[in-house]
Amino acid sequence: MVFVFVFILSVNPTFSTTTVSTEIFYPFGSAAGDKSNPVDDDGSSSVIHLLSPFLFFGRTYQQIYVNNNGHLTFNKPSSLYTPYSFPANRSQDIIAGLWTNLNNRMGGVISYQQYTNGSVLTRASQDINTHFPNLTFNASWVFVATWGKVETSFQVVLISDVNFSFILINYGDIAVTEHQVQAGYDTVNSTDYFVIPGSNNGSFISNLRNSSNVNDTGRWAFRVDSGQHNISKGKRFLDIQWCEKVLAPFLISYFFACLSHFNVSDHQTNLNISKDNTSEHNMQFLNEGFYY
Ligand SMILES: *[C@@H]1O[C@H](CO)[C@@H](O)[C@H](O)[C@H]1NC(C)=O
Ligand SMILES: *[C@@H]1O[C@H](CO)[C@@H](O)[C@H](O)[C@H]1NC(C)=O
Ligand SMILES: *[C@@H]1O[C@H](CO)[C@@H](O)[C@H](O)[C@H]1NC(C)=O
Ligand SMILES: *[C@@H]1O[C@H](CO)[C@@H](O)[C@H](O)[C@H]1NC(C)=O
Ligand SMILES: *[C@@H]1O[C@H](CO)[C@@H](O)[C@H](O)[C@H]1NC(C)=O
Ligand SMILES: *[C@@H]1O[C@H](CO)[C@@H](O)[C@H](O)[C@H]1NC(C)=O
Ligand SMILES: *[C@@H]1O[C@H](CO)[C@@H](O)[C@H](O)[C@H]1NC(C)=O
Ligand SMILES: *[C@@H]1O[C@H](CO)[C@@H](O)[C@H](O)[C@H]1NC(C)=O
Ligand SMILES: *[C@@H]1O[C@H](CO)[C@@H](O)[C@H](O)[C@H]1NC(C)=O
Ligand SMILES: *[C@@H]1O[C@H](CO)[C@@H](O)[C@H](O)[C@H]1NC(C)=O
Ligand SMILES: *[C@@H]1O[C@H](CO)[C@@H](O)[C@H](O)[C@H]1NC(C)=O
Ligand SMILES: *[C@@H]1O[C@H](CO)[C@@H](O)[C@H](O)[C@H]1NC(C)=O
Repeated sequence: MVFVFVFILSVNPTFSTTTVSTEIFYPFGSAAGDKSNPVDDDGSSSVIHLLSPFLFFGRTYQQIYVNNNGHLTFNKPSSLYTPYSFPANRSQDIIAGLWTNLNNRMGGVISYQQYTNGSVLTRASQDINTHFPNLTFNASWVFVATWGKVETSFQVVLISDVNFSFILINYGDIAVTEHQVQAGYDTVNSTDYFVIPGSNNGSFISNLRNSSNVNDTGRWAFRVDSGQHNISKGKRFLDIQWCEKVLAPFLISYFFACLSHFNVSDHQTNLNISKDNTSEHNMQFLNEGFYY
């Protein structure tokens, strides 16, 4: 019970005045040598041929598209500005940093770059070894896609050593929007998917910069190489959805009160939540779960 109180106290204003910095952001923009997407509402990059194959839940991709509306696709570009909800059980793998109606004609830069050497690889290796201990991971390829002040600022970073692959999503200032939103990832037939809690309501998405599943404010990190999960994860997702309904309109405190009814463990496999009727609150949640 003591931990429960610590947790509630941690949601006080003092805690959340921590300056949100872009320290979690990897280098981006023209200064970093990025290529920029065309200025085009609902546009996309042209096909980007990957310098190293990227393994995504059992499928190996050699190419990717950076779509202006905040998401990445592999087989073809996407102009969709209204996200579908995950799990969608569609025939597409998709990574949604923040899939919503974004228009770079109104300002901002959408840019990307891939790295196969240098300090960005070192940094990515350190980050993955911090977020996923004991893998002794050594990155050989990093892909950074950044939406810089396209109303909103965030980054999707793909990291690979060929056998293992990871995604980092870094959130900066995220503008409230009336458009539909979705952040996370979904796969072919939704055998694997993840919705970042609180990311599917535009009224609340500014909170993305304050949340994390790896104790690094504003960052969500996922291992995405193999299909370790299957559709049974849907049950766990529904539990989170239920929390999201309960939490409104006091997002943070209600959300945690709700989530504390579940066990959250194993951040190496992203989120492993099981309903726990026997203990109302548990510590695993604090140790390995969400951080605000
Ligand atoms: C998120 O962080 C910002 C800036 O640090 C702060 O103004 C805001 O109140 C925080 N939101 C929550 C829900 O803690
Ligand atoms: C997904 O769609 C297929 C048909 O394409 C259907 O057979 C299957 O039951 C659906 N799965 C879920 C979880 O809805
Ligand atoms: C570093 O990677 C870039 C491409 O990302 C490549 O053009 C360059 O040749 C590489 N340099 C070395 C020393 O491998
Ligand atoms: C990492 O390895 C050490 C030593 O083998 C072990 O004590 C620790 O629990 C491991 N950490 C994780 C997160 O598996
Ligand atoms: C990581 O791999 C690079 C080659 O890609 C190598 O030069 C470096 O020594 C490796 N680092 C570690 C810690 O294994
Ligand atoms: C990837 O896995 C293969 C087969 O297990 C292994 O031979 C290879 O060394 C691994 N590569 C890296 C970078 O870990
Ligand atoms: C997705 O579901 C369809 C219809 O059930 C099936 O034909 C296809 O093989 C599945 N694809 C994958 C990658 O599981
Ligand atoms: C979270 O990070 C902070 C500082 O970055 C550190 O002091 C704290 O021990 C970390 N908490 C856990 C549970 O790792
Ligand atoms: C899904 O996972 C469960 C438990 O890990 C396993 O028993 C089941 O066979 C899996 N189903 C599929 C279709 O992989
Ligand atoms: C977002 O949350 C607000 C406040 O709870 C609610 O009024 C609104 O309908 C929600 N929007 C969506 C798209 O769910
Ligand atoms: C979820 O966690 C439980 C308990 O820690 C563990 O037994 C199970 O294997 C995990 N499942 C997955 C899919 O990681
Ligand atoms: C939830 O966590 C508590 C405390 O760590 C543990 O005793 C309980 O067995 C867990 N329940 C499930 C369903 O994993």
